[in-house]
Amino acid sequence: MDLTRIDVAMASKPYPVIIGEDVSSRLGTLLDEVGFPARRVLVSSPRVWRLHGTRVGGALGAQASVLVPDGERSKHLRTVLRIYDGLIAAGADRGWGLVAVGGGVVGDMAGFAAATWLRGIAVAHVPTTLVAQVDSAIGGKTGVNLREGKNLVGAFHQPSAVLVDPGVLGTLNTREYRAGLYEVLKYAMACSAALFERLDRDADAIARRQAAAIRPVVEDCCRTKAAIVAADEREGGPRRVLNFGHTAGHAFEAVTRYGRFRHGEAVAYGMLVAVDVSRRRGRLDAATQDAFARLLFRFGDLPPIGDLAAADLVAAMAHDKKIVDGRLHFVLPTGIGQVEIVNDVSADELRAALVAVGCGE
Ligand SMILES: NC(=O)c1ccc[n+]([C@@H]2O[C@H](COP(=O)([O-])OP(=O)(O)OC[C@H]3O[C@@H](n4cnc5c(N)ncnc54)[C@H](O)[C@@H]3O)[C@@H](O)[C@H]2O)c1
Repeated sequence: MDLTRIDVAMASKPYPVIIGEDVSSRLGTLLDEVGFPARRVLVSSPRVWRLHGTRVGGALGAQASVLVPDGERSKHLRTVLRIYDGLIAAGADRGWGLVAVGGGVVGDMAGFAAATWLRGIAVAHVPTTLVAQVDSAIGGKTGVNLREGKNLVGAFHQPSAVLVDPGVLGTLNTREYRAGLYEVLKYAMACSAALFERLDRDADAIARRQAAAIRPVVEDCCRTKAAIVAADEREGGPRRVLNFGHTAGHAFEAVTRYGRFRHGEAVAYGMLVAVDVSRRRGRLDAATQDAFARLLFRFGDLPPIGDLAAADLVAAMAHDKKIVDGRLHFVLPTGIGQVEIVNDVSADELRAALVAVGCGE
């Protein structure tokens, strides 16, 4: 069996990310091997379960299961209450583990439920979207949205294991898959010129989801994320580079009430904004800006934004969690695979960049 193991060497709690096409059909055994609790509650969504439940469920043998709606609009406390109901019905005590099978929304909510149920039980992630495989399942950030903003309520709670089967990506619709590719591009632009080159070279095969092209990309991203979060569990330092594209990205999601963009699409716009701010400041050359935008749009078009007012987006950014002491922290690229974090981006600079990427005045 061809499995890749990447260790997240976190001081407080090291854990493995295991990647391979056989992972889904061997879930139970793999969890046993990492010492995960034998009594398990599965959390998934109806859609994911319809597509992959037979294989995953058979291999997992959970004592109980809870299906909750996914998608950004379901990511709130009321849905988490349904997970607690499932834990109550199962009689889950501290010796139980929760296994999240789904995209980032199921993972973030199930992770939050695990962090808070009886003050914390074990969780394992089985991410089924590209976003979740390359990003959200690793690093222990959990949480839900409030009407006032994304992920405003949450906790850090590291999983015991992350089990990644790139084969399940075949059933994602094109838009969801593409949204994940924008997150992949985030790693490339923020952290890895080598990944950027790989994406540029293999863009067509990756877009067509050729297994041989996707798996090394997923592995590269997991390796990068594992190294970054291991060095910075609670986002005090190096981990903030992964917020590249997220400051403006969250604003795009908030002003459209999470209804228009997939998260990755909003991040794509956020990255275009950050790249434009950086180029206007003279920190990034125009050729690199072009190369970035060209690669991004090779993955497909983004939803239109001409009806969104730049001023509303700037106001939404003022609510961002990345404000420290009244200053908004912004991740700006200075080259391919390199970023700097600044806290002096003005509203005027943001407005100009937002208009340049297509927003209204
Ligand atoms: N915790 C973190 O560090 C972190 C990092 C990045 C993103 N996130 C969060 O992740 C969320 C976005 O995650 P997402 O993009 O996975 O969204 P999602 O979980 O809503 O999934 C998107 C859609 O894909 C469907 N789906 C999932 N797996 C599928 C499969 N294999 N085949 C077919 N359909 C499938 C789902 O049913 C859903 O309709 C956001 O809420 C974001 O805040 C968290």
